[in-house]
Amino acid sequence: MTKVAPSVLSADFSKLKEEIDTLEGAKWLHYDVMDGHFVPNISFGYSILANVRKATDLFLDVHLMITDPMFYVDEFIKAGADMITFHIEAMESREKTMELINHIHASNVQVGISIKPGTHVDAILPYLNDVDMILVMSVEPGFGGQSFNDIAVEKIKTLNSLKGKYGFIIEVDGGINEQTGKLCVEAGCDVLVAGSYVFKAASRRDAIASLLCE
Ligand code: DX5
Ligand code: ZN
Repeated sequence: MTKVAPSVLSADFSKLKEEIDTLEGAKWLHYDVMDGHFVPNISFGYSILANVRKATDLFLDVHLMITDPMFYVDEFIKAGADMITFHIEAMESREKTMELINHIHASNVQVGISIKPGTHVDAILPYLNDVDMILVMSVEPGFGGQSFNDIAVEKIKTLNSLKGKYGFIIEVDGGINEQTGKLCVEAGCDVLVAGSYVFKAASRRDAIASLLCE
């Protein structure tokens, strides 16, 4: 069953709780953390996440687009993240990557690893046994509202062929709408992140429902 994770990056931050309450049909909420260094944009951090946690029971899917995830990860765990995804491009070595995965799991929080459009699936193959989710970026991370890059579909297909053996799930993020979402679900994707498509829709409920249709 496909899940939709609306991305709060596209919400009106002056009324976050009201915005989150409009997301009927969604079980996950995607929370994009940008540090102005790993990506050329700054969004929000762990203090706002703690407030979001108070405002909703949705599964909090935290996407860290930051240079030093190990340094900040405890703050996001404390703030109430249910899943923490970091970028493989931000990691220096296999040892440090495993240390971070084990550290997050030790707090009973799920772990995801993300790859940018230019990063080959091979980069995350060594970790498939150790993570709960692989996040395939279908845009260059940093901004909402960009167009879908279909390089993601091939990556999802490759990962889908390995899913049964390992048990991770696949999420896609960037430029998702009814058409691109369908392509990803057909390729084997489990979770669709959608920012502008959901938040700019006349009916957010209908937009979410259109992504859930198979
Ligand atoms: C981009 C973020 C996405 C973004 C998606 O760096 O990771 O989660 O919010 O926005 P849309 O769906 O508008 O492409
Ligand atoms: Zn994201």
